[in-house]
Amino acid sequence: MTQAWRLDGGGQTLVFASDGGIPSCIYWGATLPAADDPQAIAWASVMDVTGGMLDAHPPLSLSPEASRSFPGQPGLVLRALDGTPLLPVFRLVSHHRSDSGIAFACSDAALGLTITFTFDADARTRMLTCRTVLVSDRLVRLGWLAAPVLPAPQQAREMIDFAGRWCGEFQPVASQWSAGIRLRESRTGRSGPADFPGLILPCLGATNCHGEAFAFHYGWSGGHRMVAEELADGRRQIQFGHAVDTEIAPGTRFESAPLYVTHSTTGLNGCAVAFQRHIRDRIVAMPDPARPRPVHYNSWESVYFRHDLTVLKDIATRAARLGAERFVLDDGWFGQRDDDRTSLGDWTVDARKYPDGLAPLIEHVHAEGMSFGLWFEPEMVSPDSDLYRAHPDWTLGPDDQTLGRHQMVLDMSRAEVRDHLYAAIAAILSAHAIDYVKWDHNRVLPAPYADQARGTYALLDRLRVAFPGVEIESCASGGGRIDAGILARTHRVWLSDSNDALERLRIQHDAALFLPGSVTGSHVGPRRCHTSGRTLDMAVRAWTAAQRHMGFEMDPRELTEEEATTLRAVTQWWKDNRHWTMRADILRLDSADPAVLAEQQMAEDGSRFVVFAAKVMASAQIAPRPLRLTALDPAARYSIALRDTADPGRLSRGAPALKSGLLEASGAWLMSHGLYLPCSFPETIWVVEGQRIADPCTEAPT
Ligand code: DGJ
Repeated sequence: MTQAWRLDGGGQTLVFASDGGIPSCIYWGATLPAADDPQAIAWASVMDVTGGMLDAHPPLSLSPEASRSFPGQPGLVLRALDGTPLLPVFRLVSHHRSDSGIAFACSDAALGLTITFTFDADARTRMLTCRTVLVSDRLVRLGWLAAPVLPAPQQAREMIDFAGRWCGEFQPVASQWSAGIRLRESRTGRSGPADFPGLILPCLGATNCHGEAFAFHYGWSGGHRMVAEELADGRRQIQFGHAVDTEIAPGTRFESAPLYVTHSTTGLNGCAVAFQRHIRDRIVAMPDPARPRPVHYNSWESVYFRHDLTVLKDIATRAARLGAERFVLDDGWFGQRDDDRTSLGDWTVDARKYPDGLAPLIEHVHAEGMSFGLWFEPEMVSPDSDLYRAHPDWTLGPDDQTLGRHQMVLDMSRAEVRDHLYAAIAAILSAHAIDYVKWDHNRVLPAPYADQARGTYALLDRLRVAFPGVEIESCASGGGRIDAGILARTHRVWLSDSNDALERLRIQHDAALFLPGSVTGSHVGPRRCHTSGRTLDMAVRAWTAAQRHMGFEMDPRELTEEEATTLRAVTQWWKDNRHWTMRADILRLDSADPAVLAEQQMAEDGSRFVVFAAKVMASAQIAPRPLRLTALDPAARYSIALRDTADPGRLSRGAPALKSGLLEASGAWLMSHGLYLPCSFPETIWVVEGQRIADPCTEAPT
């Protein structure tokens, strides 16, 4: 007898069915009418069989089983202690409903195994959180445990996952669905710039603003595996889990990380907004949510390892005058750290650079009205360090391993390593008023171990309990460790080491498929970018940073008066608007001109928006194409104003309405026709502000 259940929540419906074994998700998509009976859907969902195959389709269940002749990748790979493969045959034993979710428990009594699948729907963020837990009554070895396995849509030709590199994170890779497997696996021991654990499945015709799409994110920092498989019978499955064979020790309980999934009928933006809201409001726990995100100053690209108290004080004073509210002292303050070959692990202040400790600098920073943040790279050790000389056995990997940035990795699974790091970091945080830690991670592991990520999580959790007021930034040579697992313990990501505004625009535009502005660091870099060699105007640098959590990272002594004036003005704009932009939905616009990269930040209540339209290169056509907006009320009217952010010079000699003042238009026209922006040079950004005009009929009488 087939049993069936439906789960409605977060603007979507899932239907599960079971013939006595592990349930399968037989429908996932737009909310179905209440009258749709899951039993009837199960009956209607039975596929035909034909020649040359089994007499029924083996279930594409929440954990497809090899023991049931499933022709694709199984959801579980398990071995006995002696290495013998275990092939469980699970039976459904119970299901349990909560207010917002459903759970299924299945067991194989002969093997003493229970596997549980949980789903929880968040109505406000439209996110489903799914997890698989395996419990065994004897020690077993785990090769692979997929989070609940879901079907991929049949109405899709392509899938989008993510590649990347240092200074080039979040590169979407579109590949065609075809028979077989698309496999992505991060075996570097961290989520990694090359392997962001996310997947988007756009259905036919979907764009940023329109159509149907599904999206997945695996919330784990230790390296993941994704399998997108099309079977010979045409069915498609998506599996996410920890990278294979990263659970080194045998155990009796294993669990997947949370898998976050969502479905949208408003294009990729629908998925993006669900992730932005869920990460901001459900994953990240800000120490003081009411505190406005402060403008950062970070010392890295101004002084690198050359720390000089007088110079740093001067820089701090200048940064404060530009509008900075938090001063972050980056790498170089500890041990004998004059370059990147030494001292990681020796977390005591370098008395050569700071003879009276950090207090004089911190006091100066505070006197300038800023708070103080400090850089650490806790999980690493330099072979040239007192820590390594005292504990060479605390490292991971063989003695003759290839180093990364001249450093080794500490074994975070060892309690004594975590205790040592806790004591060293806590000593500094207790001695000074520090409200921010930049937590870096600049090399891959010698081999991936799930225990390493769990050890890091444990250290972070302990520090957060002891120092609840301290915000933490996740950095890994830029965006090498960005995922919901680390964001549950940190409050900001350093998205990329590229402060090149043009590159940053692209990276932050694509990262917005998952990340909200409030946690995405973006800094105004040096005039001549240190990682690309490109020279860019202050306006484009400042307006790029102003699209996310804003900061500065150049040496303020290099600024001309004109550059400083522009930066002060943009920073003031950011401060004046952060109360709503840091909670806005970031909507990627479907720009008709590939030279224009545009996004619309929409206030939560729909009352206002700002559009950032960046001209990243010269257009193919003469005049700007209209830029369609999105997510407006078609019946409402909006007043639109162009800020004076790009000087078009003699390029613009016409009179588009936006040039001459306020424009008023309906949401319908703005979305179906779009705005005509004035001509502009490449490497400039137009900033357009919009306000919904109150409807006189609905205004309260005065
Ligand atoms: C890599 C980071 O991404 C940079 O921002 C900086 O903190 C350096 N490490 C310091 O070594």
